[in-house]
Amino acid sequence: MIPAAKPEIGAEERAAVDRVMQSGMLAQGPEVAAFEQDFSALVNGLHAVALNSGTSALHMAFLAGGIGAGDEVIVPSFSFAATANAVALTGATPVFADIELDTFNLEPAAVEAAITSRTKAIMPVHLYGHPAAMRPILDIAQKHDLQVYEDAAQAVAASLDGTPVGAFGIAASFSFYPTKNMTSGEGGMVTTPSAELARSVRVLRNQGMEKRYENEVVGFNTRMTDIHAAIGRVQLTKLAGWTAKRQANAAFLSEHLEGVVTPPTAPGAVHVFHQYTIRIVDHDRDAFQAELEKRGVGSGVYYPTPIHRLPSFALDVDLPTTELATRQVLSLPVYPALTQAELETIVDAVNAVAKAGS
Ligand SMILES: Cc1ncc(COP(=O)(O)O)c(C=O)c1O
Repeated sequence: MIPAAKPEIGAEERAAVDRVMQSGMLAQGPEVAAFEQDFSALVNGLHAVALNSGTSALHMAFLAGGIGAGDEVIVPSFSFAATANAVALTGATPVFADIELDTFNLEPAAVEAAITSRTKAIMPVHLYGHPAAMRPILDIAQKHDLQVYEDAAQAVAASLDGTPVGAFGIAASFSFYPTKNMTSGEGGMVTTPSAELARSVRVLRNQGMEKRYENEVVGFNTRMTDIHAAIGRVQLTKLAGWTAKRQANAAFLSEHLEGVVTPPTAPGAVHVFHQYTIRIVDHDRDAFQAELEKRGVGSGVYYPTPIHRLPSFALDVDLPTTELATRQVLSLPVYPALTQAELETIVDAVNAVAKAGS
């Protein structure tokens, strides 16, 4: 069976963890500081602040940027629930806008139509590793005096017109969950051009303190440990090679798959293929997935239910493209460890199922 995802953990990561364990300093310390510094190179040297998860990164960034009760933040509903949860956890209201079917990312015109007098921010998600349409979104934000946050959880090292994701708005959040393009076990990062916002995230993650026992605000414990940072630092050194392999795997799949809609890359975009997501338009997607599994090919559906219809939000919003995407998407294995034989197995299985019907 070819699994849908396969985290890469090598001897270097294990040695780095061992080094931290032997140091006896396990909590947030020098490894976290070094990871932040290493990571900032990916986002043009912006401030980088490490957190214990991507969700915490979103949450702390919003709080540091002043998002709270009474505010609305425009987000896609076609994303992982954490995107909207982080808005709601601040007391603000997520407002869901529809997506483009080709990139699965926020549709700028839908964003503009969702703006109200309470809108404070827009947060595109760079879903599957493909950058959102940042230029029009930034123009809309400027026109309406709104903040832009980026949910870059799935898009480390992606870029648009030469600008890395994570460097477009007031703040961005990354995730290092094990199945992401690089991992720290669990972990996240806020990047921001603002020294003030970065400081605020540092204070919030540490119980509201900069100086010990001089708590300035009510804060959290959302710190990353040195153990996790040590894994992340090693992974960062391997990221460029893994990204190139993902892109090569995606190119092979797009060249050889038939009977399904393969994912395009927008002009100027560097897609890092966190997921390689096809659309099944001529067959029932769930039956298609079951047939692939019978042929030894694992796959994933991200996401079967749009966030606005999850029981946690249960909102009645008309998002036709989002609804269509939830019914059609199927993510195939694209991770760096795939062998040529496995890639060929995936192609043969998809083409056979597409041809035969399901
Ligand atoms: C789009 C998106 N946003 C936010 C998150 C939250 O990240 P984490 O799982 O590290 O909390 C994830 C990943 O899980 C994600 O895919």
